[in-house]
Amino acid sequence: MCGIFAYLNYLTPKSRQEVLDLLVTGLKRLEYRGYDSTGVAIDSLDNKDIIMVKRTGKVKVLEDAIQEHFSGDDYSEPVLNHVGIAHTRWATHGVPCERNSHPQRSDDGNSFVVVHNGIITNYNDVKTFLAKKGYEFESDTDTEVFAKLVHHLWKKHPNYSFRELVEQAIQQVEGAFAIAVKSKHFPGECVASRRSSPLLVAIKTRTRLAGDHIPILYGKDDKKQSSDQDADSGKAVVLPRSDSTAEFMPLEEKEVEYFFASDASAVIEHTNRVIYLEDDDVAAVRDGTLSIHRLKKSLDDPHAREITTLKMEIQQIMKGNYDYFMQKEIFEQPESVVNTMRGRVRFDGTTIVLGGIKDYIPEIKRCRRLMLIGCGTSYHSAVATRQLLEELTELPVMVELASDFLDRNTPIFRDDVCFFISQSGETADTLMALRYCKQRGALIVGITNTVGSSICRESHCGVHINAGPEIGVASTKAYTSQFISLVMFALVMSEDRLSLQQRRLEILQALSKLADQIREVLKLDSKVQELAKDLYQHKSLLIMGRGYNFATCLEGALKVKELTYMHSEGIMAGELKHGPLALVDDSMPVLMIVLRDPVYVKCMNALQQVTSRKGCPVIICEEGDEETKAFSSRHLEIPRTVDCLQGILTVIPMQLLSYHIAVLRGCDVDCPRNLAKSVTVE
Ligand code: G6P
Repeated sequence: MCGIFAYLNYLTPKSRQEVLDLLVTGLKRLEYRGYDSTGVAIDSLDNKDIIMVKRTGKVKVLEDAIQEHFSGDDYSEPVLNHVGIAHTRWATHGVPCERNSHPQRSDDGNSFVVVHNGIITNYNDVKTFLAKKGYEFESDTDTEVFAKLVHHLWKKHPNYSFRELVEQAIQQVEGAFAIAVKSKHFPGECVASRRSSPLLVAIKTRTRLAGDHIPILYGKDDKKQSSDQDADSGKAVVLPRSDSTAEFMPLEEKEVEYFFASDASAVIEHTNRVIYLEDDDVAAVRDGTLSIHRLKKSLDDPHAREITTLKMEIQQIMKGNYDYFMQKEIFEQPESVVNTMRGRVRFDGTTIVLGGIKDYIPEIKRCRRLMLIGCGTSYHSAVATRQLLEELTELPVMVELASDFLDRNTPIFRDDVCFFISQSGETADTLMALRYCKQRGALIVGITNTVGSSICRESHCGVHINAGPEIGVASTKAYTSQFISLVMFALVMSEDRLSLQQRRLEILQALSKLADQIREVLKLDSKVQELAKDLYQHKSLLIMGRGYNFATCLEGALKVKELTYMHSEGIMAGELKHGPLALVDDSMPVLMIVLRDPVYVKCMNALQQVTSRKGCPVIICEEGDEETKAFSSRHLEIPRTVDCLQGILTVIPMQLLSYHIAVLRGCDVDCPRNLAKSVTVE
């Protein structure tokens, strides 16, 4: 998904070369989001123009192009106040090419340049309007209309401030966006805004900040609106004039640097002080001072935007000794699962405290049903824990893919409790589903990994999974932490059920051993790598299981597809006879999960059906289970745990397998083709 990074220095001397280095590093931190082209914009040496460099492909290609373009002493001259904007693009409108890369510009003279994440849904209407005003378009993007709209407004209202111009423009556009705008008419200033797409402002100062929040300035509700009449269409484009009289405010000191970014991983190496912008906030920096403005005040608006102190460390987003982020994240799981439980599970007793939802537990216990909603891997964590939730909450549990849930206009009631599971907390379909349920009065519980994300902020309550930053596009440690978060929720819900105490105890004991058991499973790495050598040239891989392990089949198949571009299917073993068995022969790669749990006999039955069709499956079984191992020469043995947590141990060999196949096939492990980490468009 597109990534925005902008940098502004004020009274902190930086050469253009340094600014470019900062921009490129910022983009590298955002690479994991998925992208196909990149671009930057900085001021020309005489400050009279804006220079843009854009490239298709990786940030490295852009970096080389920048080196070629900007060289010589002049670029190392320090400048006191400067703005640079940068972007990684994930194509939605128009193929990936330099012309469609961002920044997009308003005119030949580069008066206004814009970087954008999201989709402007009414861009055709705005484009038609602007075309009638004489604007000629050079790209296929929706973003270009925004740059040209700001330019049009600037010509019409020469006295407006930069912030006012952007504010006017965002009134005219519909859809989802995060934008950062730079202009040669407003040197040293940057304006940014968001609606439904994530954006934060990070602040770096040498001295202390004046406070821990930035007050919001509100424009007066306009009585004297200016309007821009499109005579030909007869359609009025109304431009409500914001009329704030409030002073720019908040920072007492002078030297300051600002970063605008799609997420915190791009800024953490510079500062840990960030403000997460809300929908329709317009953040502007002028003379080194940041102001956040809204056109209208709504009832539930706070008076200020809080400055959040990030706890993330730079080391957490570096690869360390690993070749890929995904590999690092797989191997982090013994620690990340402990972090998910830290301060919540007391292994010496039976209590579990989920601080973010504890006040809502009585209400949740009274609900009509639980709905678990997510996309991709997050959805699979819901599939994985559904059975335990049904058992320990004794409530009906529905598990939904956010996109399908919305397509069906699923009936939702006030006494429903809806869980929104999302690593990024920004997935558009999940966020839309959240808003849909919130409007209908349901209680909204967010299960996310990203503090300050939209899903976090829009939920009534929630559980932060604390897995740490996940950079690899294919989700791994977030899955196991989501899984554990939902298990902890089930345990909280059953705390006062006498008949369930034995079961709870068994699960708690298993949770206490989980980190060590994950370490054991990770030792299978070289065995899995050997297996990958057998499999990587095949076209397909079927993954079969049932009960608590069906989710591992779905998640394993998703990992294989995402990373290796091989076909893979997670098959419910109970459905084998109803179709998939026809695929099985002596050449079809099959992997089967057969553990000693209540569905063992049924799984063995499926295993026999496969082997009797000359299938030679790889079996994931329990340590020392000779009877099961006898069915194949290829097996991966995992430690025994309680049935409902098996899915955590069985998914790890699948993560490793897809990783090794991807490496063998020469695929880009951290950024698979066509995929994005955070899908902020529907
Ligand atoms: C994208 C990613 C998947 C992820 C899904 C949901 O498709 O490529 O790995 O599972 O989004 O993301 P979320 O951030 O909501 O968990």
